[in-house]
Amino acid sequence: MFFYNPVKLYFWSDSCSLLRKELENKKYLKPLFVVWNRKVFLNEALNCALGSRAKESPGIEDPMIIEFDRTNPDIRDFVSLSRQTENYDWDLTVAVGGGSVLDMAKSLTALKGIGVADTRELREIIVGEKYLAHPASADMLAVPTTAGTGSEVTPWATLWDREMGRKYSLSSPNFFAKYALILPELAAGLPERATISVALDALCHAAEAYWAKSANPVSSSYSLRAIRILMGWMRSEISEIDNYETRRTPALGSVLAGLAFSNTRTTACHSISYPLTLNFGVEHGVAAALTLGSLLEINWAATPERHLLLEAFGAETPGQVPKIMDGIFDRFQIKRRLSDYGIRFEDIPQIAQNSFTKGRSDNNPVNLSQEDVEDILLRLL
Ligand SMILES: [Fe+2]
Repeated sequence: MFFYNPVKLYFWSDSCSLLRKELENKKYLKPLFVVWNRKVFLNEALNCALGSRAKESPGIEDPMIIEFDRTNPDIRDFVSLSRQTENYDWDLTVAVGGGSVLDMAKSLTALKGIGVADTRELREIIVGEKYLAHPASADMLAVPTTAGTGSEVTPWATLWDREMGRKYSLSSPNFFAKYALILPELAAGLPERATISVALDALCHAAEAYWAKSANPVSSSYSLRAIRILMGWMRSEISEIDNYETRRTPALGSVLAGLAFSNTRTTACHSISYPLTLNFGVEHGVAAALTLGSLLEINWAATPERHLLLEAFGAETPGQVPKIMDGIFDRFQIKRRLSDYGIRFEDIPQIAQNSFTKGRSDNNPVNLSQEDVEDILLRLL
């Protein structure tokens, strides 16, 4: 067993000067910005990460700026952006946005210069894992603007293939950002629904990392701390959800959860969530959290040091956790019945069949059959 994570993490705005110094020492000259929204985020992140260098230093060339405002990036988006950047030989990717922006930026960085003409060629590169041998030629600074995905500290990126009804997880050490900057103020004004949805994603990362077959003592410590932080925050006063001081709480919880699952990957909750997102449009964090309580009960007997997991959730018995999760969904008016998302009884077998993603479902401590997953989903219908 070992724990490994190479991302250099900078916290809060008072770390900006340290980060600027680091980037100056590295003498990056040609940045590529991938941002969710140029007006809202770019200046703040630019000022913090590069200060006046981007505009005034004679060494810095005009950065290329890509605005990417799609959720769940598709391989078609990648092909289009890859063509857009093929003649721009950048040395530092600065990604400012949520998980989708970070995943796209990580993919562009890790596959920089690989050359893809169309989606067919990209599928061959991904499925045949040809990208694993591709050398890295740019570093990356990840600046998350939502607290949840943990993408800033994980070595993979998700690309969706809507045409083929598939989801790909690209994974290699080249998908680690070199630096991450955590600025909770960038999440200010994010609607409550989106804030909670990504926090639920982080909660699942932490809990799943804890019971994952691949858990190790360090990842488990990060998991427990993340669960405590996130549960405490989601059960705090509603007025506390959107202010600068309290946004530090989910930002920290998300990073700790990210560190935990960067070494373990996720398990059945995430694996079952993929068809719910791909075919029924359920947001990622909500889709994963729908089955969290059920999976905790199912995995209970197979989870080492399980009393610590219960304590972190603030529960006394495993049966209380689904009720606590229901309470969180109801509190934030997030629908928790599958039928609320247009899913019908006759859809369940197909969803269950598509709920087995390699590296996720087989990382669950209890092996689930398709019938087991159908049972879980029917109880949520
Ligand atoms: Fe996730």
